[in-house]
Amino acid sequence: MKLKPHHFHFLFTNLLLLLYQIHHSQAQPSTYGYVCSPNTNTSGYPCQTYVFYRATSPDFLDLASIGDLFSVSRLSIAKPSNISNPSFSLLPGQGIFAPISCGCNPVQNKTLNFLSFANLTYTFKKDDTFYYVSTHHFGNLTTYQAVEVVNPTLVPEDLQIGSDAYFPIFCKCPNITQLQNSVNFLVSYVFQPGDSLDSVASKFGVTKQAIVDVNRANIGPFDTVFVPVAKLPHLNQPPGVAPVVGVVEKKENKGAVVGLGVGLGICVLLLVLVCGFWVYREAWFRRSMEEEGLKEQKLEKGGRKYMKEMEQNLLLADVSDTLDKYRVFEIDELRKATDGFHERCVVQGSVYKGFIEGKVYAIKKMKWNAYEELKILQKVNHGNLVRLEGFCIDPEDASCYLVYEYIENGSLYSWLHEHNRGNLKWKTRLRIAIDVANGLQYIHEHTTPQVVHKDVKSTNILLDSNMRGKIANFGLAKSGCNAITMHIVGTQGYIAPEYLADGVVSPKMDVFAFGVVLLELISGREAIDEEGRVLWMSARDVWEGTEEEKTRKLMRWVDESLLNESCSAESLMNMMGVAIACTNKDPSKRPSMVDVVYALCKGDDFFYEISSNDFSTSSLKAR
Ligand SMILES: *[C@@H]1O[C@H](CO)[C@@H](O)[C@H](O)[C@H]1NC(C)=O
Ligand SMILES: *[C@@H]1O[C@H](CO)[C@@H](O)[C@H](O)[C@H]1NC(C)=O
Ligand SMILES: *[C@@H]1O[C@H](CO)[C@@H](O)[C@H](O)[C@H]1NC(C)=O
Ligand SMILES: *[C@@H]1O[C@H](CO)[C@@H](O)[C@H](O)[C@H]1NC(C)=O
Ligand SMILES: *[C@@H]1O[C@H](CO)[C@@H](O)[C@H](O)[C@H]1NC(C)=O
Ligand SMILES: *[C@@H]1O[C@H](CO)[C@@H](O)[C@H](O)[C@H]1NC(C)=O
Repeated sequence: MKLKPHHFHFLFTNLLLLLYQIHHSQAQPSTYGYVCSPNTNTSGYPCQTYVFYRATSPDFLDLASIGDLFSVSRLSIAKPSNISNPSFSLLPGQGIFAPISCGCNPVQNKTLNFLSFANLTYTFKKDDTFYYVSTHHFGNLTTYQAVEVVNPTLVPEDLQIGSDAYFPIFCKCPNITQLQNSVNFLVSYVFQPGDSLDSVASKFGVTKQAIVDVNRANIGPFDTVFVPVAKLPHLNQPPGVAPVVGVVEKKENKGAVVGLGVGLGICVLLLVLVCGFWVYREAWFRRSMEEEGLKEQKLEKGGRKYMKEMEQNLLLADVSDTLDKYRVFEIDELRKATDGFHERCVVQGSVYKGFIEGKVYAIKKMKWNAYEELKILQKVNHGNLVRLEGFCIDPEDASCYLVYEYIENGSLYSWLHEHNRGNLKWKTRLRIAIDVANGLQYIHEHTTPQVVHKDVKSTNILLDSNMRGKIANFGLAKSGCNAITMHIVGTQGYIAPEYLADGVVSPKMDVFAFGVVLLELISGREAIDEEGRVLWMSARDVWEGTEEEKTRKLMRWVDESLLNESCSAESLMNMMGVAIACTNKDPSKRPSMVDVVYALCKGDDFFYEISSNDFSTSSLKAR
């Protein structure tokens, strides 16, 4: 690059700015945050790091609410904090380590340019202000001035209940020099009135000088300091703070049951979802009712938070052994393949179609939450699961890209409910059902620990050039079973009642969702209709009465396009029977995927005929 005079000018003013900032920050606390250099060659951004957080009365005395505040799971706090039971309540002021993703983010203020922080989202409640949330909820890990800088569009005097703001939690990532000196984390710590540099140093097992080197010279109370450590110190947690455990669990269950009861009463799953979630959030915050409008926002937030939780559950180290199994793509390669991630190349959401060396790929852009999916996909390899080909990490943008085989014919959803509507023959539908059942059977039975997909639905079932079904999108998948999760996530119309009520994660929730997909295949109807009625509930009405009544009602209920092709009632009834069994409200009464595969194949003697790979939609004669 040739340097022109205006470059010098630019450099010079930047230098002045830098000097100003250094001088400035020496003189007074960094009320606006900490400037950083986005140069990835030297800076080490972004990174996973920790904040030292003190439990705060009355709202943040348990890991669930603190986890919500930081958008991480209870477990990801309990582990580094030496808390044996994540359900235990904490004492006011008790210290814990909460994981955060620290980035060097551009801000609109030209003076500051880039600030180093973890970008957390906070939803306002009654009486919240930037100041109150920064100093109280977040314990001075950020300042209201910094919040104003990153939320230029919000008017601090006019915050709406239920609206979101970004809270920049102060953090720093170690630079190259520090990493070489085995400083792996710069832990954010809020200096307390009773603290001295010596006491903080001994708490973290480092020297006083090490802290001074990284921070300003004059540290006052409630300033954030960054403590350089190779690994987190062990915290000595006060023992036996368990009393709330039973109460909390009971409350949640009771709340959920009430929510479920109300919802089922009026037979609207949507309502169950909203109520259940709301009642359960209610117990969580132990708060009285808030504005009606808040419910839905919270619901949406649950999903988003869950993704973030995934992201932070895993630290980078966990996947290093995965990485060499896959092709590592360069970010420039992906940019070229997708015309710089042009809208035109979008397949769906954040999935792009791209050509690399003459081959088509589906490229999914993710924030750093790709690890869980990577970890799961490396364990699974089956013809009915979409294959991962490689990945790419773009540290500048804190993004990760997963590169999959491209599946030509799009989603089952589009074939059932959108532009290709009515174009699926019964045999094809049956084949797709068996394909998906095989894929699910594989992930349930042949992986250790067992993987649960958690988001089986027709949009996540893709059809290849031979109209064979493949399961995609392991973004929510969870390995390890019978876990209880606090964040309900999934898609309305497919969520199993027990998951909604108690957050129980088990393969049976995939069985349930698969049953709903079968109902879609049979009826051509969507899992949830415009009025919010769920398909699996209406299917129950169809499946009542004597065999004859069932057949009669079923024939009125099936996809009209199937009636034109004389498909056998017997085959339809068989699939319907499987679907009804799968969507049983009691998970223990649902069949396993092994049984499902067997039942689907058994009921149709075409199975063997159509199991060859060159199966196509048109070449089959109807029975
Ligand atoms: C980072 O390093 C690469 C070579 O390692 C160099 O080409 C690039 O210009 C550097 N980037 C910056 C911003 O210094
Ligand atoms: C930018 O930040 C500086 C503090 O570093 C502050 O004084 C100034 O008002 C801010 N400018 C804008 C436009 O927010
Ligand atoms: C945060 O700092 C303010 C003073 O700036 C102080 O009054 C408040 O108690 C601090 N909050 C916590 C939780 O320590
Ligand atoms: C914080 O994250 C959100 C998306 O999660 C993004 O839209 C916003 O620009 C980010 N804010 C900053 C200051 O980086
Ligand atoms: C890394 O940070 C330390 C402490 O802030 C500083 O002394 C050092 O110069 C930095 N190194 C680089 C390569 O920026
Ligand atoms: C965890 O805390 C307990 C006290 O509750 C303490 O005895 C134990 O040594 C701590 N564990 C570690 C690894 O520091």
